[in-house]
Amino acid sequence: MTLRWIAAACVVLAWLLLCGWAWRGVRRRRSQALAARQDLDAPAAQDDMLVAYASQTGYAEALAAQTADALRAGGLTVRVTPLGQLDAARLASYRRVLFIASTYGEGDPPDAAAAFAGQVMQSGARPAAPAAGASLPHRETPTTLAGLQYAVLALGDSDYAHFCGFGHRLDDWLHAQGAAPLFDLVEVDDGDPAALRHWQHHLGLLAGRSDLPDWQAPAYESWRLARRELLNPGSQGGPCYLLTLTPPDAATPAWQAGDIAEVGPRQMRGGPLMAHREYSIASLPADGTLQLLVRQMRAADGGLGLGSGWLTHIAQTGDEIALRVRGNRNFHAPQDGRPLILVGNGTGLAGLRALIKARRMAGHRRNWLVFGERNAAHDGFCRDEIEAWHRDGTLARVDTVYSRDQAERRYVQHCLLEQAERVKAWVDDGAAIYVCGSLQGMAGGVDAALRQMLGDDPLQTMLHDGRYRRDVY
Ligand SMILES: Cc1cc2nc3c(=O)[nH]c(=O)nc-3n(C[C@H](O)[C@H](O)[C@H](O)COP(=O)(O)OP(=O)(O)OC[C@H]3O[C@@H](n4cnc5c(N)ncnc54)[C@H](O)[C@@H]3O)c2cc1C
Ligand SMILES: Cc1cc2nc3c(=O)[nH]c(=O)nc-3n(C[C@H](O)[C@H](O)[C@H](O)COP(=O)(O)O)c2cc1C
Repeated sequence: MTLRWIAAACVVLAWLLLCGWAWRGVRRRRSQALAARQDLDAPAAQDDMLVAYASQTGYAEALAAQTADALRAGGLTVRVTPLGQLDAARLASYRRVLFIASTYGEGDPPDAAAAFAGQVMQSGARPAAPAAGASLPHRETPTTLAGLQYAVLALGDSDYAHFCGFGHRLDDWLHAQGAAPLFDLVEVDDGDPAALRHWQHHLGLLAGRSDLPDWQAPAYESWRLARRELLNPGSQGGPCYLLTLTPPDAATPAWQAGDIAEVGPRQMRGGPLMAHREYSIASLPADGTLQLLVRQMRAADGGLGLGSGWLTHIAQTGDEIALRVRGNRNFHAPQDGRPLILVGNGTGLAGLRALIKARRMAGHRRNWLVFGERNAAHDGFCRDEIEAWHRDGTLARVDTVYSRDQAERRYVQHCLLEQAERVKAWVDDGAAIYVCGSLQGMAGGVDAALRQMLGDDPLQTMLHDGRYRRDVY
């Protein structure tokens, strides 16, 4: 009997020890989570300045990092944050904020800042929530950013109708909220070095340093054109080429799927470098070469586009190609194995191809490719490769949509709408949606189709959470 009691007591004791150990684990995880949250919510007073960026293809993000470095050189403590991760209260808790914002579409913000523009900038900013126990209900307080000093570096391209449109909207909104400009908005037209020097001059004043070095665009590397293959002979569309470039001697090139190649074109072999053009990288470093899918562009008078003409016509196999890689975090593959719906058309296959390769390497096989072009007979870009990926399970599903193979025009957005139930099921399962290719027609059509089948707010949430990403041009 006593033995039974001793045994029972031992079991209870062991159980209590186990519970205590598990509880400590829970507490440790909770306090780690709290610490992380506190870091995110750390009082702004600890930083001298916040640099907030809104970037679609990485340029504003890179300039935000350079801006922060310049300020830190003057001994300031600086935090760098995507604009989309700020809310009104957090913004209002800073004394000085520098904004670096690019513009897309019709004066629109980059995708990752859409929620900020749609919610915070629509509803106005409110001061930080009062401390616990304080009686002021912050929802009823008037909107204000009085006390905030700010400056805006607006990135854009004057070829577009709404030049620097979002930067200006942001500036107007900050002004209307009572924030005070540190200096006038600086517009940067297509990376204009003079405008960047003007911004740097102001940074020097803020940092109390007159000796900050000029920003240099990262140097080009010397790649070599090893191969150029026409992917669409006989196509109704412009010729599209798969280019294979070999890295500079002794270089260990590093990039991720989603990153962009900036190419310095020349108007003739051996001529001077012209302003760079951007191309989605279609391969991985593990392939040993950097590949691009480039459509040859021609003006109405038959003249070749500068960048595409250089890459698809003027440069010859063996020629040197000035190229530098730009990180494009917005289009990197999801970190986990969540399902991925990849949608694109034309040369948009480049970015999707690199993503599929990355997913294949990581062993993530729930990938659905929806790709559109004109005619199956001529425009089946990389068809053998895609079919092989479908056969070996890298692509769980492939839909190719050829717009001109039937009387009615049919595009990727129609294919998505026809399969709305499947799209919803994938999204319910946690899928992310990545779109690459034409801004005109395709990106808008796909966006409208997704909003129709998933709903406006849920898609907006996906955009905000990085589950809906676009690399469109
Ligand atoms: C993030 C991003 C990724 C991209 N990825 C790719 C990709 O993977 N593949 C790809 O092919 N492209 C891609 N692009 C597009 C690419 O960067 C270039 O815009 C494209 O190659 C055209 O540039 P170009 O220098 O050849 O033409 P440009 O010389 O810049 O001319 C642009 C257009 O105007 C026309 N034009 C030029 N001069 C005149 C004139 N005097 N009068 C009238 N019209 C004229 C040209 O024919 C062309 O259609 C991407 C763009 C971005 C922003
Ligand atoms: C598809 C596309 C649309 C764009 N639309 C505009 C526009 O409407 N107004 C503008 O000033 N710039 C526009 N731009 C230029 C970008 O704002 C500019 O290239 C900026 O430097 C990109 O910065 P990011 O890489 O940080 O997104 C557009 C660029 C692209 C590729």
